[in-house]
Amino acid sequence: MRVILVTGKGGVGKTTVSAATALRSADLGKRTLVMSTDPAHSLADAFQVDLGDQPSPVVDNLHAQQIDAQQRLEESWGAVRDHLTDIFDWSGLKGIEAEELTVFPGMDELFSLASVRDHVRSGEYDAIIVDCAPTAETLRLLSLPEVMSWYMEKMFPVGRRMAKVVRPVLSRVSSMPMADDEVFAAVARFYERLDGIREILSDPDTTTARLVMNPEKMVISEARRTFTYLGLFGYTVDSAIVNRVLPERVTDPYFRRWREIQQGHLETVREGFSGVDVSTLRLFDEEMVGIDRLRVVGEELFGERDPTERFATARPFRVEDVEGDEGDVALVVSVPFAEAAEVDVLRHDDELFITVGPYRRSMMLPDSLKRREVLKAKLAGGELRVVFGIAHGNRP
Ligand SMILES: Nc1ncnc2c1ncn2[C@@H]1O[C@H](COP(=O)(O)OP(=O)(O)OP(=O)(O)O)[C@@H](O)[C@H]1O
Ligand SMILES: [Mg+2]
Repeated sequence: MRVILVTGKGGVGKTTVSAATALRSADLGKRTLVMSTDPAHSLADAFQVDLGDQPSPVVDNLHAQQIDAQQRLEESWGAVRDHLTDIFDWSGLKGIEAEELTVFPGMDELFSLASVRDHVRSGEYDAIIVDCAPTAETLRLLSLPEVMSWYMEKMFPVGRRMAKVVRPVLSRVSSMPMADDEVFAAVARFYERLDGIREILSDPDTTTARLVMNPEKMVISEARRTFTYLGLFGYTVDSAIVNRVLPERVTDPYFRRWREIQQGHLETVREGFSGVDVSTLRLFDEEMVGIDRLRVVGEELFGERDPTERFATARPFRVEDVEGDEGDVALVVSVPFAEAAEVDVLRHDDELFITVGPYRRSMMLPDSLKRREVLKAKLAGGELRVVFGIAHGNRP
């Protein structure tokens, strides 16, 4: 079973690459599903067929699906949203602003990822290709399961049984609307929808992400940042795809300079994504839509290779003993490209917060590390090494 997440900046060719990858996988005889979680769907345009919210056949072995995220959100979140609206109403916040606050950003896309999980569990497909929303969206959404559990625990701290006792008491002293059974049932459903998504998406044996980019400075910079953040969140990137490279046969002097510039950028990509498969795709002389043209894209991109192969496998983090210092353990997190200045490590009880630029990840520490304190953190060779140990003052 394979899940391939395709992401990258807007317009770089994500949908084209997703569709071509899926088509090639299907042509090799694998039962394949390609689905888009990006609310701005364009799979149907790429294949030039009609697609809906349910998987529908495109060619032999291939189904495609454009998820109606809004509808999924309504099914799972409707009751909770109504309850939050009541609370906002009670506190004097009304209208459109209040309504907007009852849904967390990226929540709709989160429910699309729940569908990925359902398809994985169904066992109906050998390969699932996901055409994700542009870079920033995808990042936020991939880190959402963790963030959401945190929110939910803060928002509904009392367990269901406890609420039954507390509610009548509270209702007497306060007029604040209390969550009823329906709301708690909806919250439980929400957790069920979240359950297992992160496990599937962060398991390198199942899921890898592929970053699509164009040979342009800014686009490459963003792809490299995404690579860092995906590493930080524990997702495996196995391929970098540079799309729209000018082919050698273009000898026009006007474009010669551009070819030189692109070659320079390709060098940057190869250095930056060492350890990851780097593929290039030429700029075609027409728009690559429709089954026939997408097949050409797949051939050029993968050649004889099976697109569902794992092109690289790097572990998102590991825990190892520190030689020489007995009892000290290092948590090693892969954070390629992170500059020392933008990395921050903070320990709070059983959690470790790692900040790289604007992104933060909270991690529940394994038992072996809970008993220890953070002694130091050091960044080297694209890895953040956080050393845990028994503090010197406490040593026997
Ligand atoms: N190598 C290429 N040569 C020629 N045309 C291409 C190439 N790659 C993509 N295109 C065309 O560029 C357009 C944009 O590509 P695509 O829709 O795949 O990008 P995207 O990253 O999915 O965009 P969005 O962020 O809007 O979802 C499409 O019309 C596609 O056919
Ligand atoms: Mg697209």
